[in-house]
Amino acid sequence: MSAQKTLNVGLIGCGFMGRTHSNAFRQVNQFFDVGHRPVLAAVCARSADAVRGFADRWGYASTETDWRRLIARRDIDLIDIASPNDTHAEIAVAAAEAGKMVMCEKPLGRSAAESARMVAAVEKAGVPNMVWYNYRRVPAVTLAKHLVDEGRLGRIFHYRAKFLQDWTISKDLPQGGAGLWRLDAAVAGSGVTGDLLAHCIDTALWLNGGIAEVTAMTETFIKERMHTLTGKITPVGIDDASAFLARFANGSLATFEATRYARGHKALYTLEINGEHASIFWDLHDLHRLQYFDHRDEGQVRGWRALHITDGDHPYMKHWWVPGLQIGYEHTFIHQVADFLEGLAKGAPAAPTFRDALATDEVTDAVLASARSRQWERVPASV
Ligand SMILES: NC(=O)c1ccc[n+]([C@@H]2O[C@H](COP(=O)([O-])OP(=O)(O)OC[C@H]3O[C@@H](n4cnc5c(N)ncnc54)[C@H](O)[C@@H]3O)[C@@H](O)[C@H]2O)c1
Repeated sequence: MSAQKTLNVGLIGCGFMGRTHSNAFRQVNQFFDVGHRPVLAAVCARSADAVRGFADRWGYASTETDWRRLIARRDIDLIDIASPNDTHAEIAVAAAEAGKMVMCEKPLGRSAAESARMVAAVEKAGVPNMVWYNYRRVPAVTLAKHLVDEGRLGRIFHYRAKFLQDWTISKDLPQGGAGLWRLDAAVAGSGVTGDLLAHCIDTALWLNGGIAEVTAMTETFIKERMHTLTGKITPVGIDDASAFLARFANGSLATFEATRYARGHKALYTLEINGEHASIFWDLHDLHRLQYFDHRDEGQVRGWRALHITDGDHPYMKHWWVPGLQIGYEHTFIHQVADFLEGLAKGAPAAPTFRDALATDEVTDAVLASARSRQWERVPASV
């Protein structure tokens, strides 16, 4: 392998996603031959104690408690945003203006308008950029993309996606602050629409093309919760559940549903596509399998096949162990870094770029608008 260039990473946020990203930056060169070697140069979070502990655990060379200082540092090449949604736009715009590469967690912004400012900033600066919609890089989902693109399903009639959780059912759960910022609309932007459905929409746009129009309903089951930062009982502004019908530009029909009130379900992301010749089904709880049905099979043996996505000719799998041995959730982030670095070497952006992720926010905006108007809403990006 030719000499690798170093890529100094400045990570912002050391919660759930800070851990998945750090793991990915540390592991990528052990498994993928890519032209760059990420260096864990600095991590930033507001609490000095917390960020120091995180840096020690993961091997970051230095810490910051103000992201502006991190961006001002000349030694940092890439700003990686793994902080709550209300921080994304300001950090990404400042990072792009400082000429840094930017990777950002999803959703890109709290609204399409906020995301559009971020797209304009990275495109004006000409800096490589990517959004961490990691489910595209589950090997079984990537294989689904290959099967659709090869035309194996034929004309697509239906797309069906769900993302079900059950962790906010208790009315005693407060909103706001560490970990619970997702329940505070001012920070999160929306509830499950921007959080869970955004994943489903990103995958859907990638697999099945643009969405033309939507009609939606949302509900907030618990109307008031104590706010962690003020101690006061405050109205809840997020959607607890969201469901919508959609018509894709290719004429197929879709249903999407997300909730944090589906007792018994922890992170049940499922998707199904029904085409003229074949169907596929995927389930995050069984992420290394792709269910495939092909009507062209001989009648007596025709049926759903559970493809075990562990063989060397499956996407990404030749980089891992031996056929039959599966990988998991954390590997999707490693794949994402590998593709980003490969994109740098080729000078071709790895998807989803900020612009790709804006398309998802156009759909989530339309979903929330439809829930308010009780009308079908066109999605601007695909009109
Ligand atoms: N790709 C995925 O599957 C996935 C999963 C979970 C979360 N996310 C996204 O990742 C982002 C972070 O979510 P999380 O679950 O890691 O949150 P978290 O609450 O676990 O961690 C957030 C971190 O950001 C830090 N932070 C908050 N404000 C900051 C500021 N102003 N400056 C510096 N640091 C700050 C906090 O101290 C904390 O370390 C969100 O945008 C979320 O939507 C994506």
